[in-house]
This record gives sequence, structure tokens and C-alpha cells, in this order.
Amino acid sequence: MLQKQLAKPEIIRLLTDDDNEEKLLHQADEVRHQNVGDEVHLRGLIEFSNICRNNCLYCGIRRDNKHVTRYHMDEEELIDTAEKAAHIGFKTIVMQSGEDMYYHTDRLCRIIEKIKRFNVAITLSIGERSFADYQSFYNAGADRYLLRIETTDKNLYHRLDPQMSWQKRYECLLALKEIGYEVGSGIMVGLPEQSIASIADDLLFLQNFGVDMAGIGPFIPHPQTPLKDAAGGTLSLALRTMAIMRLLMPDINIPATTAMESLHPQGRIKALQSGANVVMPNVTEGEYRKLYELYPGKICVNDTPVHCYSCIGIKITSIGRKIGSGYGGHNNKQKKKNLILI
Ligand code: 5AD
Ligand code: FES
Repeated sequence: MLQKQLAKPEIIRLLTDDDNEEKLLHQADEVRHQNVGDEVHLRGLIEFSNICRNNCLYCGIRRDNKHVTRYHMDEEELIDTAEKAAHIGFKTIVMQSGEDMYYHTDRLCRIIEKIKRFNVAITLSIGERSFADYQSFYNAGADRYLLRIETTDKNLYHRLDPQMSWQKRYECLLALKEIGYEVGSGIMVGLPEQSIASIADDLLFLQNFGVDMAGIGPFIPHPQTPLKDAAGGTLSLALRTMAIMRLLMPDINIPATTAMESLHPQGRIKALQSGANVVMPNVTEGEYRKLYELYPGKICVNDTPVHCYSCIGIKITSIGRKIGSGYGGHNNKQKKKNLILI
């Protein structure tokens, strides 16, 4: 196996070594092939609410962005969207939203129970909640949880949203792990004043924590946020970071992130050939797609769930890969959850 335990100086070298980028991405592709094979797992992403109580400086749906038309789906609409996605063939539904308290614990539990009947794995991506809430969602049938740590540079994190606490976010991740979720986390690269050394720290943090999934995307400045004039991240840095993540954790799930494709029309394909093994196509319907704008240049805003499923399917087969046939969980946790799913 090509896996290495990389020390911080070595990670920094890989992140900055322009001459050997191709070699790094290729090595990550090899490690991916040997450890998780050629299947690409698809997750149907439902953006069910763009209402958020937080005010992160980088995010297009931050509380203070008054230009956003706010929406949330009602319960039935959300369940309907999930059912359609399951029919199309998605085996995992990702429910993502801002921190919208209309979706209180009972409401979400009811929804999770109903969506579970479509025989799908459920991933929640709804931000910070209490331990008790996380436990309730898990008991209702949620399998996985996505909560990016965003950066492990605590000063930077607090500058990006002075009202939030890095420690609290970390404690959420610990709670999710303790409860038994498959935990996905991740970071953005190219944040203002984020150093390469701190990206190396981020990678080691995700490895030490033992994430089941790691999402890495470039920061893309949104024109209606205070960071509108920032430089943003590059595809190259995001791909390198993702490739190193694959070397550090050969058998986890790593998505080819939508933000990568927003920077380059082949972004997700490049990612799939540089260590990634997951894609999360959007299955949100109609106008909502445009309104859920975390960053500008978001792809697929005028497309339909069926279109995206077949579009990404064609892309996957065109590079000699195949769509995942199972639920695509991370190793042994998959088995435990399958017992519940069947
Ligand atoms: N550019 C890129 N990614 C962003 N996210 C939020 N805002 C932006 C942006 N401007 C990412 C965050 C969040 C995830 C859902 O989207 O990492 O956790
Ligand atoms: Fe949506 Fe290609 S994935 S159009």
C-alpha cells in the first residue's frame, strides 16, 4: 500500500511543490483505486432551507445578506423530493440547510423516519445542534452527519464569525462520533489569511479525529458578503489538499466537491482522478437551486435531478469508473447500518 504517515513539513512541501503536482494527484488516484476501488458513490443533495441564524463572513446565505430570497420547503415537499431522488436511483439522501430553527427536533425526526422508508441512507448537514438533538436524529434513522470544521486555525475561525466558537464546533463533532454517526468533516482552502501550514494542520486534524468522510473545497468569494474582494482558493490547491487527504486516509469517502466544478468545468472529474470517490449531485427542484447560493458560479442551477443523475453518470463511466451499487458507507460502519436499512 502506498499510504504514508506524513509529517507536517512533508505535507507543507507537497502543498507548495508546483513541479510535482501531477505526481501527487496520480499517487492519490492509485491509493484510491487500491483502497476503495472504482465505484463512485452518488448522494442526492436536498437544499431544503436557506434560512440561517449564523453570519459567517464567507457564506452567501449568512443572516445579514438581505438580498437573499429566503425559503424553506415544507415537510411534505422535502419528503417528496427525497422520494423522487430515491426513485431516480440515489441510495443516500443528504439533507442540507442553514441553521433554520423552523426545523425543530420533532419535525426533523418525523421527516427522517418517513424518508427512511424509501430505503436510503440519510446524511444530515444542518449545522450545530445539541447532543440530545443529534441523538434524536440518530434514533430516528439518520446514518451520517456532515459538519465541516472549516479551518483549524482558531483565530481565523473566530474572525470568520465572531459569534461562533471553534471549541463548540469541535465538541459537536465529538458528540456525533460518540453517538455513532459516520462523521464527515472538512475545510475550505484559500480563506483570507489562511496559511499553508494551517492547511497542513487541518489535514492532520481530520486524520487524528478519524473522519469517515472529508470534503475539501476552494473558498469562492460571494459578492454580497464582507469577503467579496478576497482572492479565494484555487482548484490546484484544493486538489492537492484533497490528494494529501487521500494519502493520509486511504479508505475514507472523499467527495469531488461542487465548488471545485464551479471553478473549472472538469473540476469534479479532475477530483475523481485525484483521490475522490463520491459525488453529491443536487436533487433540489426548481427555483430553490438558485436561492441556495453559498458562493457564486454554482453549477447545475437550471438543471433537474434526473438530468444531473444521468449527466454525472455519463462523466463517471467516461473515465472508466462505475456508479456505486451499495450505500457507500465507510467500511465496517456500513455493515452495522445495513442491518437497520434492510
Ligand atoms: N465558498 C466555498 N465554500 C463555501 N461554503 C460556504 N460558503 C462558501 C464559499 N463562499 C462551504 C462551507 C460549508 C459548506 C456547506 O459550504 O465549507 O461548510
Ligand atoms: Fe448537474 Fe451535470 S451534474 S448538469
